[in-house]
Amino acid sequence: MSLFLNLLVLSILLLLAFLKYSHSYWKRRGVPHEAPPFPWGDFKEWRNTKCFYEILTPIYKKFKGIAPFAGMFMALRPVALIMDPDLVKSILIKDFNHFRERGIFSNVRDDPLTGHLFALEGTKWRELRHKLSPAFSSGKMKHMYSIVVKVAEEFKKVLDEKQATAAGGVIEITDLLSCFTADIIGVCAFGIECNSLRNPQAEFVVMGRKANTERRHGLLLDQFIEAAPKLARTLRMRQIPQDVNDFYMGIVRETIEYRERTGVKHNDLMDVLLELKTKDGKDGGLTVNEIVAQAFVFLVAGFETSSSTMGYALYELAKCQDIQNRLRAEINEVLKRHNNQFTYESMQDMRYMEQVISETLRRYPILPHLVREADINYKTTDSRFTIEKGTMVIIPVYELHHDPEYFPNPEKFDPERFSEAEIKTRPTCTYVPFGDGPRNCIGFRFGKMQVCIGLTYLVRHFKFSVCGETEEHLNFLVEKMILQPVNGIKLRVERL
Ligand code: HEM
Repeated sequence: MSLFLNLLVLSILLLLAFLKYSHSYWKRRGVPHEAPPFPWGDFKEWRNTKCFYEILTPIYKKFKGIAPFAGMFMALRPVALIMDPDLVKSILIKDFNHFRERGIFSNVRDDPLTGHLFALEGTKWRELRHKLSPAFSSGKMKHMYSIVVKVAEEFKKVLDEKQATAAGGVIEITDLLSCFTADIIGVCAFGIECNSLRNPQAEFVVMGRKANTERRHGLLLDQFIEAAPKLARTLRMRQIPQDVNDFYMGIVRETIEYRERTGVKHNDLMDVLLELKTKDGKDGGLTVNEIVAQAFVFLVAGFETSSSTMGYALYELAKCQDIQNRLRAEINEVLKRHNNQFTYESMQDMRYMEQVISETLRRYPILPHLVREADINYKTTDSRFTIEKGTMVIIPVYELHHDPEYFPNPEKFDPERFSEAEIKTRPTCTYVPFGDGPRNCIGFRFGKMQVCIGLTYLVRHFKFSVCGETEEHLNFLVEKMILQPVNGIKLRVERL
């Protein structure tokens, strides 16, 4: 018995010594860092009481200027928080070859929906990215433009009806906006008209929201998967809830079967994916499961990112009527110049709109940080600091966008920051709402197009203003990776 007790005590002591030693990683390398909370590391409160960026901001502020990056721990995993824009540029663009992967969880065998572009690695990612990129070219956007405009027209009608019945014209806009973008992605990526604008409980959008919020496991196992993705894959763990998996597998299989049977073409993202389909997925082709995973990521990465951007833009426009009026004047003037036709070309003439969207994404970067993983021992230009192979690298987008050195008075919403002259004054890679380099957002044109068309219809036909129910400062959901307001956004809407 006493031998057993001795062994138990010894094992516990050894485990504690190992944990302590792991947490001394940055100290041993002379990298500035805060003492990590034992044993969960710096991200202990993430998803529980704090958003990701609330954990990064104090570290960024404390160590910026002292070293090109600061050390953090996600449980035992060392994380390098990059603060120097030159190093950001090297990681994302110049030395991208050494930082190609995000190092996030993916388990194609047991959890097929995780085999998507965002998580894929190596040759599979490179080939797929190469093949999917043409689907998001400006030429293809022109084709999908009319689909988006059709949904925007329906959106205008729905908002008209809602406005007529809402008490005092006060409407919570975020849910409505996410139905707008879900309807668009539904048609473009899945080939289905889910019509969630009329039926907000449509399974398509409910499951899409669930995929962004809910996990298969509780907080602890979820954090384990994030902190040790390779081990989690070896243990054959899964992340996507079963009902979400079954739903999307079902609808994409049906779409594939229908298109193959009828030979019907829609000129959309699903057509591009189907062109890549082969039986065994060899020679860079895609299996059915891989097609489902790509359509799934277009939904997850595409609908709430774009709808939230619109929500934040309307929130800021409601707070600042001058900017709203100037934007409306531009919309009307451009349309007049194009014989009242809202065409793809007229959209591109809206320069101030572009500035408003850029400033919205500065103030509210929907993905508040970017992630990469080093695949060599990477020497920074400061010879004292090396990012070792396997280290998780975080680019703090929210912190860069709110750094007064690059954006004076950062809390102020000011589209003038994105005039051509102002843009030139800033170092590259201090503004990265869509990431940068070869692994940037593949859908950025599509996202911007949805936002631009949506805002054009809304601002042209409605006036948005703040009311008693509008929050003065927005708080963000802690359980989401993307920036989403806790209580939605309530605004007074008037028809024009
Ligand atoms: C305003 C809207 C959007 C924002 C703010 C946004 C933002 C981002 C960001 C920050 C990244 C990571 C980039 C990096 O790590 O360097 C990303 C990646 C990605 N986005 Fe978007 N996105 C938007 C819309 C869309 C849309 C509409 C789609 C597809 C229909 C899409 C699909 C993707 C995919 C597939 C990736 C992974 C790319 C890869 O790893 O190769 N996004 N997005």
